[in-house]
Amino acid sequence: MSEPRVEICSEAGALALRAAALAVEAAREAVAHRGRFLFVLSGGSTPEKLYRLLAEPEHRSAIEWTKTFVFFGDERFVPPDDPASNLGMAQRALLAQVPIPAAQVLAVPTGEKSSTTAAAVYSRDVGRQAPDSLPIPRFDLVLLGLGDDGHTASLFPGKPALKVHDRWVTSSPPGVLPPSVERITMTFPVLNAARQVVFLVVGEKKAEVVREILERSAGAEKYPAARIAPVDGTLTWFLDQAAASRLAPRR
Ligand code: 6PG
Repeated sequence: MSEPRVEICSEAGALALRAAALAVEAAREAVAHRGRFLFVLSGGSTPEKLYRLLAEPEHRSAIEWTKTFVFFGDERFVPPDDPASNLGMAQRALLAQVPIPAAQVLAVPTGEKSSTTAAAVYSRDVGRQAPDSLPIPRFDLVLLGLGDDGHTASLFPGKPALKVHDRWVTSSPPGVLPPSVERITMTFPVLNAARQVVFLVVGEKKAEVVREILERSAGAEKYPAARIAPVDGTLTWFLDQAAASRLAPRR
């Protein structure tokens, strides 16, 4: 994997604008070269600004939503109308505002009888996106957030999901951060198979974890986010100044 690219933005609004421009370009390239855009959304409060921006006319018209397929990097094991639902948040902020066919929004089936079953069903659904040439799905753009504990998606420190390498999606008990509900999460192999992975990180609370990961401090591997390293793709960290505040001055 090549070195991660780090972009420091003045504040969350500027960060969302940069991420929106990157998403529009990723969509254009994917549709032009492969006929469709495979887009993995993240949960959390940081990406919500980006989703609202993508729903605004300027960006909405720049993405071919009829050729876009949306997936979720992780989901809370709750119904879509639960305030904790990542699908619910994405629907309100973006998906209900753009002309994406409903069949092209591949939500995690949180109506299944257990999070384990939901993960198995979603893993099968996600696996169907694997092109004939590859054994593993290769998403065009994966958005990720970073928890204060160094988690990403719902890959939490010390949890068994970190060791799952034979499935694209697995379930997880809650991490230490709220909401304390069971999760379904994409696993490292599929996240690291993506063409582009983008972290969206805002706030001083994350600055130390960001520093340890990006400066590869001893012990940083304890943070699941540190293990996001696209095998044949690019990794970009969009940080606001507060999240970047502990990084050494960059050349
Ligand atoms: C989730 C997210 C999770 C999130 C981080 C950061 O379902 O909660 O996928 O990984 O991205 O916790 O969340 P914030 O952007 O709200 O800080």
